[in-house]
Amino acid sequence: MPTTRTEPSTGSAHRTASRADTAARNEIIDQLKEDHRRVKKAFRDFEKLDKQDEASCEALVRTTIAELEIHAELEENLFYPAIRTVLAEDGLIDEAEVEHMTFHVLIDQLKTMDCSDERYCATFTVLGEYIKHHVKEEEGEIFAGLSRARMNWRNLRDDMQQLRQQRMAEQGLGDADGAQATSSSSSSSEAAH
Ligand SMILES: [Fe+2]
Ligand SMILES: [Fe+2]
Repeated sequence: MPTTRTEPSTGSAHRTASRADTAARNEIIDQLKEDHRRVKKAFRDFEKLDKQDEASCEALVRTTIAELEIHAELEENLFYPAIRTVLAEDGLIDEAEVEHMTFHVLIDQLKTMDCSDERYCATFTVLGEYIKHHVKEEEGEIFAGLSRARMNWRNLRDDMQQLRQQRMAEQGLGDADGAQATSSSSSSSEAAH
C-alpha cells in the first residue's frame, strides 16, 4: 500500500498550520509597519534638513522614493490583491489603491524635477503628508481588519519577501531585515500615530 500524504483537517497538524499562518500574517504586517516607520522618519528628517543643502535633500528624497516604490509594489501586486478576498470591507482596498496612484503622480514629478526647482521641497513635503494620512488608515483599518482573516499567509509572506529582496538588491538598498530595519527600530517609539 503506497504511503499517502496526510493532511488532516483536524488535530495538531491543522492547528500547527494555522499557527504558522498567524505567525506569517504577523510577519507581513510587522514588516509593512516597519517600512511605514522608516518612511515617516525620513520625512521628519527632511523637515529638519537645511534646504540650501541640495545634495543632502536630493539624496534623502531619492532613497525615500526608492523605498516607497518597493513598498507600493509589494502592496499593489501582492498584498492588496490577496487580502481583498478576505477583508470584510473591500472598499478600503479601492481607496488605498487610489491613494497609491496619487503617490505615483508626485513621485514621477519629483523624478523629473531638479532639486533646485522651487517646488521640489514642496512636492516632497506634500507626498509625506499624503503618506502619513494613508499609513494611518492602512494600519488602523486594513491591518486591523485582518486579525481574524484566514488564508495562506505563508505563501503571501514568502512571495513578498522574495520580491522585496529582489527589488532592494536592484536598488542597492541592502537587506530588508538588515541594517535599515535595525537602525530604524530605535526610532519606532517616536513614530507619530
Ligand atoms: Fe503601506
Ligand atoms: Fe499602502
